[in-house]
Formats: sequence, structure tokens, C-alpha cells
Amino acid sequence: MARVIGSEQVNEVRARGRQLLEILPGDIVTDLAQEAASRLGIELREGPLERPAVIKTDGNTNLRRGLYRRNPRWVAPQASATREPRRIGKLALIGAGGVGANIAHLIANADAARDIVLIDIAPGLAEATALDLQHSTGISRSRAQISGSTDLATVEGADIVVVTAGRPRTPGMSRSDLIDVNRRVIYAAAEAIRTRAPDAIIIVVTNPLDEMTTEMLQATEFPRERVLGMAGTLDSSRFRAALAKAADVETRDVEAITLGSHGDEMVPVPSRSTIKGRPLDVFLSADMIEACVKDAVTGGGQVVALKKTGSATLAPAHATVELIDHLRGARAGSVPVSVKLEGEYGLHDVVLGVPCHLGANGLVSVEELTLTENEREALHAAALAVQSRLAP
Ligand code: 2OP
Repeated sequence: MARVIGSEQVNEVRARGRQLLEILPGDIVTDLAQEAASRLGIELREGPLERPAVIKTDGNTNLRRGLYRRNPRWVAPQASATREPRRIGKLALIGAGGVGANIAHLIANADAARDIVLIDIAPGLAEATALDLQHSTGISRSRAQISGSTDLATVEGADIVVVTAGRPRTPGMSRSDLIDVNRRVIYAAAEAIRTRAPDAIIIVVTNPLDEMTTEMLQATEFPRERVLGMAGTLDSSRFRAALAKAADVETRDVEAITLGSHGDEMVPVPSRSTIKGRPLDVFLSADMIEACVKDAVTGGGQVVALKKTGSATLAPAHATVELIDHLRGARAGSVPVSVKLEGEYGLHDVVLGVPCHLGANGLVSVEELTLTENEREALHAAALAVQSRLAP
């Protein structure tokens, strides 16, 4: 049915922070609407505009489809044949602070591991957290056996080891200020993992993330397939949350990824991001998109500034569990992970966040997306920054 488009409809588009009003055949556009649109910078575009099919799938499938539309050479990964997620045998968490404890909680509640071992040098902390969590299994009915220890040797035989131990930032610090102090923690953890859990897949969460993942690779001499850094899932989640808030939509309507380093050289990728399957500029002004990019880059720092004595715990724990879920086949598709690049994106011997496919043995493949010139430059700048911080 033909609609009358007046200034009221234009104002409404503006109020929602959108840039475009679709005019369908037969619509009557009043002079006042034309005038309001030109004054407010709203484009009146003749429709019907191309609309993606309604997508009723999980977020990862949506992301794969979004990436595929933009890069048809990209081959969507196949879902695992069984679709039955594996239960992890033993998950060891080195570091029982806020991130480690929350990972344990999420994994126990999902009944995703048989044994969960928390390890922390602070006397009693890991044991107390493990006992507390075990007490909750009477309600959650999780079958997980949870234990705590101060002894790194209890990493013995773990299938997956998550390393969160290390000093967190305090207000005013950048993640890279932690290199020297946290390098020692990584070396101690690496020695225990190398000798006691030589087949484990390691997920590094300790900051500065890309540098500590590099140190873990060197110290364990594990293949790159089994040393993964968690950052992209966290940064992408922050980016999606910011975009959803700015566009006043649900986060499930937003697909967005970040690449690069987990720091100032992070590379959020607006050109590959969508809201309701459509480019961001249909919903948000350039300034609003820029503010969301900034929110993703500074998100961790914002939490540190508010907390004063520590950094974020809940979102990093969820973001780590997202990687564990990819490893155990509970999620399919590509996911941003910090891995050592061996020629992908024209980069060698540097750990950076890129989209990857994960499986039971760790990294399956790095996804090489076609990036814009700016995005590629930003990725190379991130590589240089990480390499220079690690240079002796
Ligand atoms: C963050 O960004 C802790 O680096 C982590 O919150």
C-alpha cells in the first residue's frame, strides 16, 4: 500500500541514528519530507532495497554468511559431522582470579569437562574457589569434578590449559607495561605444561596477549596449532555490544569482528560488520561507527579505570569459553584467535588476531579474508608494534 512520507517519518529515521529512508514504488513524498531530509542529511533512496534472506541461525553462521557475501572466494567451513560437542577430559586453569574462576564456572555449568583444576600461587584461593564451585553442583547438577591447588604440577595430563595468571593492569597502565613481569609467569607455566601436559592445547589470556602468546610458543616449543591467544573473541564481543547499543538493536542482530593486536593496534573491521545483515552505515553515522570502534579498543581500559584494582573478568571468561567451545565442537565456523602467522596476510613470525578455524587438535586453518587497503595496513602496523615490543 502506498505510504505518505512526511517530515515526521524523516525525523524518526534521524532519531534512530539512521542515514537512509527507503522509498517504495507508489510512495508519496511530501515537500516537507524532501526539505527535512536534505536538512538532516538523510538520503531518500528508491527501493525496494536488496534485503538479505531472514536468517534464523546462530551468530557464527550469520558471521560466516556475512563474510562470504563480501568475499565469495571465502569457503564457509563445514559444520562438524557429528554435531555432538565433545566433553573435555581435563581442563586446567593456571590462575584462579576473576577470569579463571568465571571460566571454571561457565564450563562446570555447561558440564563441558570431566575434571576442572584451578591452580594459583595465592595460598587457598584455587582450593576455595574449587570447593565453592563444587558446592554449586548440587544445584547445577554438573558432573564436573573440580579441584584447586597451588602446585603447577597438577596440570598433569590436561587436554586444555588456560593461562590467565599474571599481573593485571591498574589505571593508567597499558597492557604492554606488563611484559617483563608476566613473561616470568608464562615461563613457569610453560615449563609445567611442556613436561606434564605435552599434548595439551594452550589458551593464553595473560596480557599483553599477543606478546605472551609468543613467549608461550617459544617456551613450550609447541606447534602453533596448540598455542592460541584469546583476545579477538573478547574485542569482537565488545565491538558488537557497542554497535548494538548505538543502533538500538539486539546484539544478536550484529555481526562484527576485530583483528590485529589486543591493544592500541587493535583492528576492528567496520567494513565487514553488519547490523541486521546490512552495512553499518544504513543504521549509524560515520561518527557513531567511529565511537563504537573506540569503545572496542578502550573497553578493557574502561573496566580497569572503574575497578581501580584489576581488569575485566566476565567478558574475558565468556570469550575464552567461546574458544573452548570451538575446540570441543560446540560451535562451528571461524573465530578470531591470536596465532602465529606463517605467511598469511603477508606476515611471518608474529602472533596476531586473525579469523581461524579450530578443531579437536587446535588450529585447523587461518582464514585469509580480503581486506581493504586500510585494514591491511592496520594489520601490518599491529605486527610491527608487537614485534618491536618483543625485540631484545
Ligand atoms: C581486557 O581487555 C583483561 O585484556 C583483558 O579486559
